[in-house]
Amino acid sequence: MSQTQEQYFDRLAYIYDSFLFRLYFQPLYNKIINLLTKEVIKHINYNFLDVGCGTGEVLYNLAKNNPQAYFYGVDISEKMLAKAQDKLKEFPNVKLIKGDIENIVFKNDRFDYILVSEAFHHLYNPEKIINKFYQLLNKDGKLIIVDPTIDTKFSKIILSLATKFEVLYKIYSNEELKNLLLQNNFVIEKNFKYFLNSFIVASVVAHNS
Ligand SMILES: C[S@@+](CC[C@H](N)C(=O)[O-])C[C@H]1O[C@@H](n2cnc3c(N)ncnc32)[C@H](O)[C@@H]1O
Repeated sequence: MSQTQEQYFDRLAYIYDSFLFRLYFQPLYNKIINLLTKEVIKHINYNFLDVGCGTGEVLYNLAKNNPQAYFYGVDISEKMLAKAQDKLKEFPNVKLIKGDIENIVFKNDRFDYILVSEAFHHLYNPEKIINKFYQLLNKDGKLIIVDPTIDTKFSKIILSLATKFEVLYKIYSNEELKNLLLQNNFVIEKNFKYFLNSFIVASVVAHNS
């Protein structure tokens, strides 16, 4: 299954940063960067993980203004990561890791922030991975999920068209996604819709162990 996902994104990597894709993605990146820098990130010195970082656009925008923070990007696609590597090679505080987020073991400390943008619906074990995110975050750490959700007839039509081209696992509704987070002990701090995407900021108030 992961192999298919990897092959799909390896092919997409060649056109992912193209003008046509940017028509959809650039406003989303602007919204994400704005949210992160103005409302979510409160430290100077922090550990940030971008899951399914793709060609590294969000990491690049954060890393260029935050030399004291540490950034990690994980992606299953070698070709997407190669594009990211090219953009991010001048930043010593960025580390890119190739692999499936489900299997990667992080040897460093926990993270202060985990971002999953436009990638959650591609993950094969979302319930298990949400719990992994919880374990990987520091107390008061925040998970930021930006993902298309099916909440209206319009989004149902558009996203069912997308399933004809994309390798998807599951597209949630905004409510389902929030419930998944609540079931895994996250506290929802912020939730809004932006075009087809739900933005959810969820925090770890306390670890059980
Ligand atoms: C639609 S792209 C989004 C890329 C980037 N986050 C963005 O907002 O532009 C989804 C990314 O998730 C990656 N991905 C899919 N499944 C993954 C997995 N199990 N582990 C790590 N990365 C994965 C894909 O290779 C792809 O780069």
